[in-house]
Amino acid sequence: MPKQRLLIKGGRVVNDDQSVEADVYVEEGVVQEVGPNLNPKPPSGLTVLDATNKLVIPGGIDTHTHLQFPFMGTTTKDDFYTGTKVKEEMKSLVQDKGVNSFKMFMAYKDLYMLSDEELYAALSYCKELGTIAQVHAENGELISQNAKKLLAMGITGPEGHALSHSEDVEAEATHRAIAIANTVNCPLFVVHVMSKSSARMITNARNEGKVVYGEPIAAGLGTDGTNYWNEDWAHAAAHVMSPPLSSDPSTPDFLMNLLANDDLSVVGTDNCTFDTCQKALGKDDFTKIPNGLNGVEDRMSVVWEKGVYSGKMDENRFVAVTSTNAAKIFNLYPKKGRIAVGSDADIVIWDPEATRTISAKTHHQANNFNVFEGMVCHGVPVATISRGKVVYHDGVFNVTAGQGKYVSRPPFPPYVYERVKQREEVCQPIPVKREPYAGVVSATPSAP
Ligand code: URP
Ligand code: ZN
Ligand code: ZN
Repeated sequence: MPKQRLLIKGGRVVNDDQSVEADVYVEEGVVQEVGPNLNPKPPSGLTVLDATNKLVIPGGIDTHTHLQFPFMGTTTKDDFYTGTKVKEEMKSLVQDKGVNSFKMFMAYKDLYMLSDEELYAALSYCKELGTIAQVHAENGELISQNAKKLLAMGITGPEGHALSHSEDVEAEATHRAIAIANTVNCPLFVVHVMSKSSARMITNARNEGKVVYGEPIAAGLGTDGTNYWNEDWAHAAAHVMSPPLSSDPSTPDFLMNLLANDDLSVVGTDNCTFDTCQKALGKDDFTKIPNGLNGVEDRMSVVWEKGVYSGKMDENRFVAVTSTNAAKIFNLYPKKGRIAVGSDADIVIWDPEATRTISAKTHHQANNFNVFEGMVCHGVPVATISRGKVVYHDGVFNVTAGQGKYVSRPPFPPYVYERVKQREEVCQPIPVKREPYAGVVSATPSAP
């Protein structure tokens, strides 16, 4: 077999800490050289991609998807899912299967919801195993009580979903998750941060030095919860997810500011797609609408448009929040999340000037609805390279099912656990040395 060789010429290589004008030379899926005017020999058998006036960025890492996910009586339209398992299996998943994070739910009463006692135990075990505790932070009991009340009032449509998942519901659980995680010294990763209040809880915790990361999602940065009041039922239902999109239209901007400032750390999607017929399982009762919406295809464009084009963040911060920080938190760095010698050649050639309009009519996802419909985005991928292979170039895909490769993630990511381990050593409470009390002790009443 001839060696797989690729040269990306004339672009601007953007990592999270610097940008340089450089070519990138790849062999067998791994970056061999980054520098100006590379001229690898022999020229035969070399694929050359022109990246003049383009950015060359690390492939995006989506921290949160549900593919082929059976949920709420149906299965997501987009497929492939590897999920969470029960406590006994955690150890073998970490030690034998390369899993280093677990998602725990404080919501979905009677399905996934954990009590504080269970959460305490799960987070303690996550810490012991050297993993990242991901938490879906919503108060499931409050949601259930709110929903009953709203249904009794005759509110059965998607607006009931937003009303029952009030901002308080998310903020309370976020605060509780932070308190429990901090008590057991377990690093916490709050998935799908959707509201200002929840984001503020995370910001405050980080300011207090707690090891907490917040993940806004593409939908929460690109659209909002006013859609739940849309008079077209299918439109409103298509936006149902938990926690809901914020009904305050200034929230997406607020979350983007926090992401730019490092109060929030990474962008996921929580991609979890159901078409209109599946959503219609809840046509008479909003609590039965399958929760979830799209994001994987548009995440990078939405973050570029709302983050970089808007002037809130630079291209390096863009790379940090779409790729590098995720690689560091989940222990894939610098194999993933960086363009450097020795890194996997997962690379996107990005045209920051080009624009495209997002639409369900032209997207490649399996679903019939796109929550970003009509959004014009600056920033368009020209080519996508996966482990050295050009899988997309100028509108043409070169992929086959099953081509993706599972990446093992060892426990104790240093980016997270250096601090955790040190705290474990130096932050233990110690008893005060005292002379024993020698005075009178009041008599305890004797049992009858
Ligand atoms: O509504 C959502 N978020 N659906 C996916 C499941 C989850 O809670 O992440
Ligand atoms: Zn969730
Ligand atoms: Zn999710």
